[in-house]
Amino acid sequence: MVKKIKTCIFISGNGSNLKSIINNSRDYNFPIKIDLIISNNINAKGLLFGKKYSIPYKFFSSKNREKFERNCIYEIKKRKIKFICLAGFMKVLSKNFIRKFGYQIINIHPSLLPKYKGLNTHKRVLNNKEKYSGCTVHFVTPELDSGKIISQKKISINKNETESSLKKKILIQEHKLYSSSIISIFR
Ligand code: GRF
Repeated sequence: MVKKIKTCIFISGNGSNLKSIINNSRDYNFPIKIDLIISNNINAKGLLFGKKYSIPYKFFSSKNREKFERNCIYEIKKRKIKFICLAGFMKVLSKNFIRKFGYQIINIHPSLLPKYKGLNTHKRVLNNKEKYSGCTVHFVTPELDSGKIISQKKISINKNETESSLKKKILIQEHKLYSSSIISIFR
């Protein structure tokens, strides 16, 4: 059996990416095992997946970032976690935290980076009448959505595309891209 890398997923919301990674991680050959879920939002629906799949999950408020990161580091060290995936985690991590964790943190963003970093991606893409959008998995650096790109998926935008249809369409691709990127990192 492959020795799976102990991994923590950070979320803030629905956790659909989390769910798809959990499902894929059950595969014998998948390189990581989800040992912990951390949310900075107590109402994050994604936390329910922790309960459902019997994965330890924690909520820490991120109002005070230093305290939040201290709590995370305690849990991460305790469980010997070696890898972090941000999946819809809506807080920027400090330089110190990223450095301390040896830059073994990746994120998914719903645009073709380096275009459309930050929030309200789909709205800005549509306003600019782009023909294409997509999603990107990248390493996390202290600068928002700017680390080395691991992989991307491009999709075309229809004439009557709405924010919500674009979000749905890209999310389906995110679910595939996140797991295939994890596989590519540890191959
Ligand atoms: C995704 O579109 C992700 O790219 C972005 O936030 C959304 C999270 O969705 N950062 P979910 O919580 O995984 O369903």
